[in-house]
Amino acid sequence: MSSSPTERGEWSSKIGFILAAAGSAIGLGNIWRFPYTAGENGGAAFLFLYLLCILFIGLPVMIAELSIGRRTRKDPVGAFDAIKPKSPWRLIGFMGVFTGLAILAYYCVIAGVTVGYIAKTVSYNTTSFSEYTANPLMTIPLLLLFVVLTVLVVQGGVRNGIERWAKILMPLLLILMVVLIIRSVTLEGASRGLSFYLKPDFSKITGKTFLAALGQAFFSLSLGMGAMITYGSYLSKKDNIVTSGIFVSFFDTLIAVMAGLLIFPALFFAGVSPDAGPGLVFEVLPVIFAKLPGGTLIGASFFLLLSVAALTSTISLLEVVTAYLVDEKHILRKRAVWFVAAVAFLFGIPSALSFGAVEWLSDLPLVGMSFFGFMDWLFGNVMLAVGAVFISIFFGWVWKRVKSTTEIEEGCPGYSAWAPVILFLLRFFCPIAIAIVLFFKFKDLIAG
Ligand code: TRP
Repeated sequence: MSSSPTERGEWSSKIGFILAAAGSAIGLGNIWRFPYTAGENGGAAFLFLYLLCILFIGLPVMIAELSIGRRTRKDPVGAFDAIKPKSPWRLIGFMGVFTGLAILAYYCVIAGVTVGYIAKTVSYNTTSFSEYTANPLMTIPLLLLFVVLTVLVVQGGVRNGIERWAKILMPLLLILMVVLIIRSVTLEGASRGLSFYLKPDFSKITGKTFLAALGQAFFSLSLGMGAMITYGSYLSKKDNIVTSGIFVSFFDTLIAVMAGLLIFPALFFAGVSPDAGPGLVFEVLPVIFAKLPGGTLIGASFFLLLSVAALTSTISLLEVVTAYLVDEKHILRKRAVWFVAAVAFLFGIPSALSFGAVEWLSDLPLVGMSFFGFMDWLFGNVMLAVGAVFISIFFGWVWKRVKSTTEIEEGCPGYSAWAPVILFLLRFFCPIAIAIVLFFKFKDLIAG
């Protein structure tokens, strides 16, 4: 990769890794998916569950993935194989790679729309989100554009590609969000939105809320399919897995919570319903921009930075599938990258057509969702949760306790005191909690 062919690339610095992992985590998941998912699931009660999921499930799974990756220095399939050779565990790695490819495909559709919104904003085009995305001549070329952008960055390799981008642009996004939040909370009617977002009404929690919160935690932290195994494989033994994991989770959560503070206060002012679905942020944000001096410029900059945040996320998705093809199938890196991109593009087309362009794709028979919604539900929620169950079990029960503890202790002296807590969570709490949520979800599904 970035070093000699026999040696695997490593991040150039500790901060480089943290920023890249944060770049993978922070993306449309925080700014686009989190607000509408919270809006559809009762607001504050959802936020509360989400935070619990991050702390007690997301964080331990993150530590598990990073340590498996650093120990084995492999892609997800190779990693399971290295610790438990010739066992069916490699199928879990394979499932992760496939899930990554599927997420990449539909994620690039909405990322493409984000790029489109830069142009839409500067050209004072006021078409609504639903009209805009119903146009296949918009969504398909934008999907293609985003896939190609991702390829171009990934080809630069770990250091030049991923790190450089993340370092410069992530902080800028944070600053712009603060400015926008200040405007949003001072809009008329902001307090109604704030109380929806921050004052929990626990009667709104249903079985559906649990899977939504859990799935959102995995999606947002890029967990459950081996992205953090792959990123961990480029970590050095000097790096502290625990503090890095905490840092990444903290910033990821901070940005999501901030996105809520940005969107919800402006909701009622904008006259948009909290359960408006995937179009939510795209409908609400322009209303905030319009209330600021130089709003067009601010709006365009925001969509630009959001596109970059999406790019640092799609990079990680493409990287997982690529690492698999390079490490396991010995395909040349350059070829692998283009091949994966082509598949992601083709696989993304039905999603791009499911915002109204093609009627049956927009409202799939039987499932009652659009093709895009179905992909997001199946891969972005269910498959990540399934993957996380197995990753927890693998770490907790298959990987020898001494070995995992020794691995994490390197770079994190004093971990052994905490090891029992992490092991307890990964052995019992995470797999059982996630399995229960999945079980009730399927029971619901069959009953309903
Ligand atoms: N976490 C990213 C976001 O919030 C999306 C993402 C990137 C992802 N890589 C992933 C999600 C791996 C699940 C698994 O936008």
